Amino acid sequence: MLKVIANVVVFLFLSLIVVAGYSIAAEKGAVTYEKNVKQIISEKCLSCHGSDSPTIDEFKKDKEGFKKKMKGPRMDTYENLMIFVDGKDAGALMRRLDDGKNTKDGKPGNMHQYLGKTDSERAAMLEIIKKWVGGWTLKKKAEMTEEDLKAIKALKE
Ligand code: HEC
Repeated sequence: MLKVIANVVVFLFLSLIVVAGYSIAAEKGAVTYEKNVKQIISEKCLSCHGSDSPTIDEFKKDKEGFKKKMKGPRMDTYENLMIFVDGKDAGALMRRLDDGKNTKDGKPGNMHQYLGKTDSERAAMLEIIKKWVGGWTLKKKAEMTEEDLKAIKALKE
């Protein structure tokens, strides 16, 4: 009897180690803004969405003017980027970067082109950003459900 209990205890202990190991691995593998996304945004987007670009509110007041100057709204920090992920302008990042493969018209979002010089580079960058966002949705903020918003992970670090 004692031996059975001892075996069970050892088994549970080993299971615990395995589970802990997996969660540490998952933690390490998680895509985060600091580890993965910041650099992509910085290389591919900040020439037009950097700290010298207008805030989203300034941008909205004079869209056409800023477009002509090739300036989009500012996305230079995690907080400023999140406006377009799950904030005031939720889903904008996903709609603009999507490759269009799962949409009716098959057209990519108009910022998709900036993800890379080749199809494969664009696809690789999109995959990282999709993993980061988690619940990828092309819905507008008003159409998003609480579940849609909850599914968005977009970890900072
Ligand atoms: C060459 C300049 C340029 C680059 C590079 C660029 N953008 Fe833009 N972006 C713009 C301009 C200009 C607008 C506003 C016009 C429009 O809505 O298309 C815009 C609009 C956007 C919007 C919509 C903002 C809103 O009104 O809600 C998002 C999201 C966006 N860009 C994301 C990105 C991301 C992410 C990247 C990098 C992969 C990127 N852009 C690269 C110029 C650029």
